[in-house]
Order: sequence, then C-alpha cells, then structure tokens
Amino acid sequence: MDFPSDRLDGRCVVVTGAGSGIGFATGLLAAGRGASVVAADLDADGLAELAAAAAEAFPASLEVTTVRCDVADAGSVGELFAAVAGTGTPLRGLANCAGITGDQPFDELSPEHWQHVLGVNLTGSYLVARAAVRAMDQDGGSIVLVGSGTTNTPAAGLAHYIASKAGVIGLARALAKELGGRGIRVNTVSPGPVDTPLLRARMSDEVVAERSRTALLGRLGRPQDVALMIGFLLSDQSSWITGQTINVNGGTAMT
Ligand code: NAI
Repeated sequence: MDFPSDRLDGRCVVVTGAGSGIGFATGLLAAGRGASVVAADLDADGLAELAAAAAEAFPASLEVTTVRCDVADAGSVGELFAAVAGTGTPLRGLANCAGITGDQPFDELSPEHWQHVLGVNLTGSYLVARAAVRAMDQDGGSIVLVGSGTTNTPAAGLAHYIASKAGVIGLARALAKELGGRGIRVNTVSPGPVDTPLLRARMSDEVVAERSRTALLGRLGRPQDVALMIGFLLSDQSSWITGQTINVNGGTAMT
C-alpha cells in the first residue's frame, strides 16, 4: 500500500491574493513543497515580500514568479496565464485566494459596491478558474477556491460578500461535476475568522481579543492553518476529493 506525498515538485501552481494573508502563506507553502509558484496580486509590494520570504526560507527551491494582476479583469488574468505558460512547467494547481470584503448595511449597499465585491470574489474566481482549466488541458489538476464561513453563519453588513462566497461554492461544485472526467478536481476551502489584514479591517483589537477568548480552541485562525488545507487539496494526498466545501474554522461553526 502506498500513500501519496504532499510534495508538488514538477508542477506549476498559481496562487492569487499571494501578497497577503492566506494567499501569502499558501504561496510560501507551495514553494517549500517544490512547486513552481506563480504568485499574483494587485499589491506588488506584498508579492516582493513573498518572493523574498520564499528565497530565504527555501533557498534550494525554485524562484517564485510574481505577476501583478487584477483577478476581476479578463485581460489582466490573460497576462497572468501567459506568465504561467512562460514557466515551462505544466500547470497542475490553482489556489484562488484573492478576495475583498467591506461592511455595508444592506439598505445602504450601492450597486457599485455590490458589483465590486461580486466582481473580485465571484467573477474573479470564474476568470482565474477558466484560464486554469484551459491551461491544465486534458492532463488534470486541482483547483481550490476560497469561500467563507459566513455562508454558514451570516453576519450583518456582509450581504454582498456572503452572496459572492455562496456563488463561489456553487461554482466549485458545478466545475467539479463538469471537469472530473478530465482529471480536474475542484474544491472550496471555507475559512472561519483568520487573523489577516482583511479581518483586522473589520474587527477592532477588542473584538479580536473577545473572539479569541471565546473560540473553541482559544484563538483565531492563522493563515498557515488554511494554507495547510489548500496544500493538501493541491497535492495527490486528496486525489479522491472533489466538489467539497471544507471548513477550516477552529470549530467556530459546526455544520
Ligand atoms: P488579505 O486581505 O490578507 O489578502 C487578500 C489579498 O487579495 C490581498 O493581498 C489583496 O491585495 C488581494 N486582492 C484583492 N483584490 C484583488 C484583485 N482584484 N486581484 C488580485 N488580488 C487582489 O485577506 P485574507 O484574509 O488572506 O483573505 C484571503 C481569502 O480568504 C479571501 O477570499 C477572503 O474572502 C477569504 N476569507 C478570509 C477570512 C478571514 O477571516 N481572514 C475568513 C473567510 C474567508
């Protein structure tokens, strides 16, 4: 009996949102496991930090390729995947971690803000996943989209965000059905509260302390907690897992 490895050697893996938080941790983890990582974000400084962190932590690994990209823009996503082709390594993984939020009471939610959040979180997932599927061609791979625990336990002021993330979960399930025959697995990781700039923009230090104090495991999530699940789903260790929504939330919600 053999057990597949968590290594990603010989594979190109695209990580979006790689300039911060969960995407940053995922990019670092994939680089450490031997992948040729193409890291994308709007934030060029964050990308440079990731490339430097990977070079320091894993000097023997391949260099991380960084591409400034807006996942909500089809042309920009096209440029990202041109860089993927340029690596010369077959694309076998996508982790779409780019995402935005922003509290807005529903009766004040403007069509522009609605479209912006849907554009990045949902249309971005569609654009990046479609480009990845085309690049994976008939040889298969693993696509990981990022949902949110708020789709199970909604919070006020996040209707646009929660609607976008519910769409992401539906998209992943639909793609798993359509693409399984081509060896492409598609799953969603739904994080609970993870201590990143996205969360800090919504929660004061006091709220973070209270949420940590009352959490089942006594703390909020760390980006690495989610990256480890994404890494598992990108690897052959999860070769019989597709169409699933995997909650990584320290037990903050049990569904
Ligand atoms: P973060 O804010 O630390 O990182 C998100 C990254 O996405 C940033 O570097 C940002 O520049 C990038 N980004 C934003 N818009 C972009 C665009 N149009 N194109 C390319 N890059 C773009 O946030 P975090 O927490 O790491 O979030 C990652 C994902 O996890 C998001 O989808 C978020 O919705 C999701 N999530 C996070 C939770 C948390 O508590 N931190 C909880 C549930 C879900």
